[in-house]
Amino acid sequence: MDSNSKIYVAGNTGLVGSAIIRMLKSKGYTNILSTPHSNWDLRNQEDVNRFFRINEPDYVFLAAAKVGGIGANSEQPADFIYDNLMIQTNIIDAAYRNGVKKLLFLGSSCIYPKLPQIPITEDQLLTSPLEPSNDAYAIAKIAGVKMCQAYRKQYGFNAISLMPTNLYGPGDNFDHNSGHVLPSLIAKFHGSLDKSEHWIVNLWGDGSPKREFLHVDDLAEAAYTCMERYESEKIINVGTGVDVTIKELAKIIVDVTGYKNHYQWDASKPNGTPRKVLNVDRIKSLDWQPKISLREGIESTYEWYKENVA
Ligand SMILES: NC(=O)c1ccc[n+]([C@@H]2O[C@H](COP(=O)([O-])OP(=O)(O)OC[C@H]3O[C@@H](n4cnc5c(N)ncnc54)[C@H](OP(=O)(O)O)[C@@H]3O)[C@@H](O)[C@H]2O)c1
Repeated sequence: MDSNSKIYVAGNTGLVGSAIIRMLKSKGYTNILSTPHSNWDLRNQEDVNRFFRINEPDYVFLAAAKVGGIGANSEQPADFIYDNLMIQTNIIDAAYRNGVKKLLFLGSSCIYPKLPQIPITEDQLLTSPLEPSNDAYAIAKIAGVKMCQAYRKQYGFNAISLMPTNLYGPGDNFDHNSGHVLPSLIAKFHGSLDKSEHWIVNLWGDGSPKREFLHVDDLAEAAYTCMERYESEKIINVGTGVDVTIKELAKIIVDVTGYKNHYQWDASKPNGTPRKVLNVDRIKSLDWQPKISLREGIESTYEWYKENVA
């Protein structure tokens, strides 16, 4: 990409899209295009084709999607499969037909089997059954990966697919019901700061599952590295390669928020997969590595939350 390339970031208001825009601006890119959801429904093929015809972007970061935690995924599987299939199909096809030089598709680590070998290498895709609670979302994402591979094979279209681990950072969804675990815990402990000393925060599961978390600014740098240097139909994992227990995560958040009362684990609620961490050798071979520690990332995310959400 050169400094006056037209770069379209789909999903500009989201956690990932806004981080990609921050990163591009910090590197001096000024010709950034977006399609705010308020004016554009990316599920609509005519809208998407019209946007590409008029604006003729050179590069596309595809970070628009319907995204949510376990609750939202199990309650609205139809919306998760429909919205994601439509958005990505419209954008990938329109990008190819309108001469886009390169497209980067954001998948997710939930495309991998429910019980993978740890750490999860890219070649474990489609080797055994998916986690049923979000399989509609995962199948849509797998279709996006396959579509990038098929357009590369048949048309020579330069499309690549990144599989990020759990992300967090400024712009995250802090809603208890639809958000992911890390922002939900921040909101939960922050929301309990002014309660009486007898207050107890109840946490889902027994806290033993291990998960990996990557700050979204590190992901944005990884996306840039891949846009500049990665040319392959093979998917590429992006994560820290390090996991923590949910108990350890909760301890950091308790410490950062300054919550002083009790909290307890509700072991009658399901834990989910015991361990999920990506093998990140492929992305590390491109000389990328995460720079923001979990503690630092939670501290800055909490500051952002207090200023913008709480
Ligand atoms: N968050 C994570 O932990 C995580 C982990 C791995 C991979 N990813 C991937 O990263 C990508 C972005 O995720 P995110 O966390 O940034 O999600 P997000 O914060 O929910 O952002 C999604 C973006 O897409 C937009 N959008 C959704 N439906 C749209 C539609 N029909 N028309 C136009 N715009 C629409 C949203 O606009 P509104 O907000 O206005 O609706 C928002 O700008 C996804 O592909 C996801 O799979 C995320």
